[in-house]
Amino acid sequence: MTSRRQFIKKGLLGSLGVLPLTHLSTTPSLEELKNASSDDELFALVRQQLHVPENRLYLNTGSLGPSPVVVTDAVHAMMQQLEMNPAIENWGDLGERMEKVRTKVGELINADPENVVLTRNTTEGLSLISQSLKLSKGDEILTTTHEHGGGEVGLDYLASTQGAVIKKLQMPVPAPSKEAVVEAVRSNITTKTKVVMLSHVNTLTGLKMPFEEISKITKSKGILLIADGAQAPGLVVVDVKSMGVDAYAASGHKWMLGPKETGFVFWSKELQQKINPVFTSSGLGSYSASSGTRNVALISGLGVAIDWLNVIGKEKVEKRCNEMGAYCISRLKELKSIVIISPQADSLSTGIVSFTLKEGENRKIAAELAKDNIIVKVLPKYNGIRISCHMFIVKSDIDRFIKSFSVLV
Ligand SMILES: Cc1ncc(COP(=O)(O)O)c(C=O)c1O
Repeated sequence: MTSRRQFIKKGLLGSLGVLPLTHLSTTPSLEELKNASSDDELFALVRQQLHVPENRLYLNTGSLGPSPVVVTDAVHAMMQQLEMNPAIENWGDLGERMEKVRTKVGELINADPENVVLTRNTTEGLSLISQSLKLSKGDEILTTTHEHGGGEVGLDYLASTQGAVIKKLQMPVPAPSKEAVVEAVRSNITTKTKVVMLSHVNTLTGLKMPFEEISKITKSKGILLIADGAQAPGLVVVDVKSMGVDAYAASGHKWMLGPKETGFVFWSKELQQKINPVFTSSGLGSYSASSGTRNVALISGLGVAIDWLNVIGKEKVEKRCNEMGAYCISRLKELKSIVIISPQADSLSTGIVSFTLKEGENRKIAAELAKDNIIVKVLPKYNGIRISCHMFIVKSDIDRFIKSFSVLV
């Protein structure tokens, strides 16, 4: 296979409409990605695009994803462009480029751009949604015991300011089937439930929530359905229409491999009519007019990340992550010292795989793995470890992890 050094500069950036930097590192061109003769070759080219050193095994995309060179170079180039004539660029060329990111996000998640707001991260998006809701004392918000603090913070605000009651359903570990998960949600809904907030892909277990089935239940009862999508876009295909959600918030800096401090939130038209508008008179559509000066280079970099992902193909990425997740589970099953907490049913599983340790301390083990240049996430709640299998992970990477890990437990 061709080595990274042999690749030609600039092809990819140029094709994505970004000014090439003169000192660009050598990266695979867009044509090379498109012409890869197999998926294995394609994902090897993707791996060569990352700044992560060759000997580092990065298994923590769930916390923060490693942006490819094409994204960081584009951001760098746009930052320089901005600084050459800040006000003119910010509300001129670069501002227009930033506005187009909402359209790109809309295409990625099957939403109309006017229903998309660009944010700094998922936490901000979910907080905006919560701040907009009007609930009455005693109204129930149904969520789970497996949510992230970034989603919970907005719900806590509703509880403290409007007297809403947060009800957390106990998530089965590991979740046995799609039917069991849907039933757990259904049986916890009461006549007081006004909002259901669930992660699309769960931060602890990687479980992909069956939103299509759940939204049929919530719609029939007039309940708002909100998704925390922090772990989803770039890992699984997101279609907010078929999911049937009223609102969806996500980050660009995890599985989308976008610039850090980028994210978005989708609000359905119906929800917009029921809420207190966040960005007041300019409405949800004109985020840049109503939310002040933004970092046009970073936000536009998210657009570059989306274009790059589209060249690879989001369906292909999901399939690859699922395959690597399944391989990781098959290897983990050989170990007696752990219990897998991720679901194994195809309809629920993803490229995120987690397990708890029967003995030993997860932090100490993660620190030992880091000495071998293997980066994982610890899960304090379960004395667990989470492995993020993004598209650039290959089976020999998982084998390397298992080899290092198995001598530590
Ligand atoms: C499910 C979930 N929600 C929210 C967040 C917070 O994301 P951010 O820091 O991008 O707001 C995370 C981060 O790991 C997460 O996993």
